[in-house]
Amino acid sequence: MTERIGVAVVGAGMAGQAHAYGYRNATMHPDLAGRVAVDLVAVVDANKELAESTAARYGFATAHADIQAILDDPAVDAVSVALPNNQYIGVIPRLLAAGKHVMAEKPLGRTAAEALQLARTAEKSGLVHAISFSWRRLAAVEGIAKLVREGAIGEPRHFSAWYLTDYAANPEAPLSWRYDRALAGGGAILDIGPHIVSVLEHVLGRTGRVVAADMRTVVPERPVPAGAVVGHGPVATTGERGPVTTDDVTTAITEFASGVTGHITVSRVATGVPNSLGFHLIGSTGSIRFDSVHPDEFELFTSSPPNGVTNGSRTVIVGPEYDSFAHTIPMPARGVGSGYGAGFVAQVQEFLGAIAGNGTMQTDFFTGYRAMLVCSAAQRAAATASAVDLAALDTELRAASSALTGG
Ligand SMILES: NC(=O)c1ccc[n+]([C@@H]2O[C@H](COP(=O)([O-])OP(=O)(O)OC[C@H]3O[C@@H](n4cnc5c(N)ncnc54)[C@H](O)[C@@H]3O)[C@@H](O)[C@H]2O)c1
Repeated sequence: MTERIGVAVVGAGMAGQAHAYGYRNATMHPDLAGRVAVDLVAVVDANKELAESTAARYGFATAHADIQAILDDPAVDAVSVALPNNQYIGVIPRLLAAGKHVMAEKPLGRTAAEALQLARTAEKSGLVHAISFSWRRLAAVEGIAKLVREGAIGEPRHFSAWYLTDYAANPEAPLSWRYDRALAGGGAILDIGPHIVSVLEHVLGRTGRVVAADMRTVVPERPVPAGAVVGHGPVATTGERGPVTTDDVTTAITEFASGVTGHITVSRVATGVPNSLGFHLIGSTGSIRFDSVHPDEFELFTSSPPNGVTNGSRTVIVGPEYDSFAHTIPMPARGVGSGYGAGFVAQVQEFLGAIAGNGTMQTDFFTGYRAMLVCSAAQRAAATASAVDLAALDTELRAASSALTGG
């Protein structure tokens, strides 16, 4: 029998639209095709015009300006939330209380404390909760994680990793919520940091410690927008400028529980690099280099068998051997190309599958909390110029959260 799952997207900006795309294409997965019918019920955005245009674009039946409309709607079973970071702590508990399964964008709130509170609330609800870590679903990242687990590069030793974007490189980019610490909780560290942290944790296991971190705001003031900003603008401005209170570029040295160490640089002012998430991972017998600019491939070097003549790394091209490639793109043939959109389709497929009882969500709110823990630790390491142990920070936050809730 076909199960009907009614879905809504809250927040129709850049990320919300990517979720809408995911729902629209979700039943390409054979576990869902013919078994789950996705009803595209509603798009909600305080900017009603944007909600309406997004609903029309992706085939959702209705558009609303307030989440109350979907809280009251029994046709909505599952909701994606893609709002400014300060909105999660208020909106998500209301959705859970109304019995809606929730997929939240990263970061899960503004702080690790908020993320923990949301994870605990979601756990108590018994509903499916998911965090949007689309990058780790890329087939190449899946392939790398598998190779590392199988020992293809021996013992992982150290890495350099990055997520570079240039959306804030232009000092005239409007002062949206992203530049205000009270609304965002952090800049590059929270906007793009959780993605690279989640990818690294998928490949290398849990982070143990942030050894040191450095955070910089290189554009201290930006033009105040005259109206709504979608994503990174552009938009008319008032002629005034306001202060930027979040980081533009952060570098953190991290150590994994396994002992692997490396550094992560996240930047939103990487002039000339629109969007590149990647890493170079060195092991005892090999190494791997990945850059999302070429999402379906990675460079693999193995030192065995030894070959002094044609030694060097080779390009591995991934394809339909991975679910996140095979069931997310229209022509799933090696070399055709998947990418950003495929990651959103794959994670929505997993979310709907978990709701339908077809499996579990690999990245739930606790995965989101763990990534926030690393980002919060980097913020604290930068502020105190000292190392921050993740287990100790976790214990501190859990104790504070229990003291607040009495639980
Ligand atoms: N996974 C990714 O690749 C990715 C990419 C971009 C953004 N994000 C995340 O998604 C979230 C949203 O980012 P964005 O770039 O889409 O932001 P955005 O500013 O483009 O869109 C946010 C939208 O939320 C609406 N909104 C604000 N408060 C609301 C409320 N209470 N009810 C209804 N609508 C409300 C605004 O009108 C706006 O249209 C952020 O947490 C961000 O970190 C993730």
